[in-house]
Amino acid sequence: MSVYLVTGAAGFIGANYVHRLLEWETAAEVVAVDYIGFAGNTANLDPVADRVVFEQADIAELETMEAVYRRYRPDFVVNFAAESHNDRAILGPSAFMRSNALGAQVMAECSRLIPVRSHVHVSTIEVYGELAAGNQWFTERSSLNAKTPYSAAKAAGDQMVRAYMQTYPEMNIRMTHCANNYGPYQLPEKLIPLAVTNVLRGRKVPVYGDGLQSRDWLHVTDHCAAVHRVLHAELDAIPAEAATDPGLLPIFDISARCEVTNLDIARMVVTTLGRDPGAWIEHIPDRPNHDRRYLINPEKIESQLGWQPTHDFTTGIEDTVTWYAEHRDWWEQIIADKGELGFDWSRAAAPRASR
Ligand SMILES: NC(=O)c1ccc[n+]([C@@H]2O[C@H](COP(=O)([O-])OP(=O)(O)OC[C@H]3O[C@@H](n4cnc5c(N)ncnc54)[C@H](O)[C@@H]3O)[C@@H](O)[C@H]2O)c1
Repeated sequence: MSVYLVTGAAGFIGANYVHRLLEWETAAEVVAVDYIGFAGNTANLDPVADRVVFEQADIAELETMEAVYRRYRPDFVVNFAAESHNDRAILGPSAFMRSNALGAQVMAECSRLIPVRSHVHVSTIEVYGELAAGNQWFTERSSLNAKTPYSAAKAAGDQMVRAYMQTYPEMNIRMTHCANNYGPYQLPEKLIPLAVTNVLRGRKVPVYGDGLQSRDWLHVTDHCAAVHRVLHAELDAIPAEAATDPGLLPIFDISARCEVTNLDIARMVVTTLGRDPGAWIEHIPDRPNHDRRYLINPEKIESQLGWQPTHDFTTGIEDTVTWYAEHRDWWEQIIADKGELGFDWSRAAAPRASR
């Protein structure tokens, strides 16, 4: 029986991973760690509450995390914990640097001091920055070129993890960069759940600027399956050439090659809910320094680990919209606790007032 330590487990992707993990490995022992920051929500773990041990802990605190490792002696570690919202990062970058950079290093350090069988650091497509016009996509060989406080803090964490990979190769530490995720349990401050919950409350869907920012979309379950595959992969030792060729490091980019604009996503949500996009979408001032486009090539994880996405995008969005429609109690409680979650950059990013 294996012990899994999953951080950020009360967030969107971490919670989905814990749910799937307990289906994939029914005998797994799961230690779910989260400090319950703005996006953390223990209700995301309610369906598996009797199957996991929950530890409220900050991954940026070495002593605390070392104690958690010593108590549970994990075989496998997946670090999803991060502050993840680009808008909030603009208003307060420090928390992002702490969780996304220092937290990544502390987690790697714990897995060095109390060895585990493997450790996956979950990162994001956004560390590569903005895709230049004429470039097809990023790969594991692309330079880190983050330009926002969120992605720069993630890139700082990535650099430390790359250093651990090469300095302590016996550690079995791996890393993933994933496209934008959609699916159940995402905080309604992000585009898709914000759109659904607005329409279901009779409000328009806010779209930043012209809405033509283009994103690479993947269903959260496909992301979780990819992370699980990376965690368990039997990988060759890191070759010396990896020092000058990051494509040879145990880093895997994850995507379904599904590029869609924010405006088209908003239209799909509104249409799925049976409304007219012309009447239900409003363009609002864009956030500062908004990346226009990104897309990554998943060829390495497909060819080396045999991973493939299984969710069709159109059906996946429809199912996701249905999930939020059917889990109204879940998101109404969040809005009751946190207030309105949309941002209004025309008013120095005050949370959007009721309309
Ligand atoms: N959402 C996406 O589209 C996407 C895409 C690619 C990669 N990622 C990465 O996946 C991971 C999870 O993203 P998400 O969308 O689920 O984010 P989320 O904000 O929904 O969840 C993150 C969770 O981490 C917790 N957390 C933050 N800092 C912590 C700390 N110091 N100690 C303990 N817990 C802490 C939060 O409380 C929250 O529950 C992040 O690392 C993110 O960078 C997300």
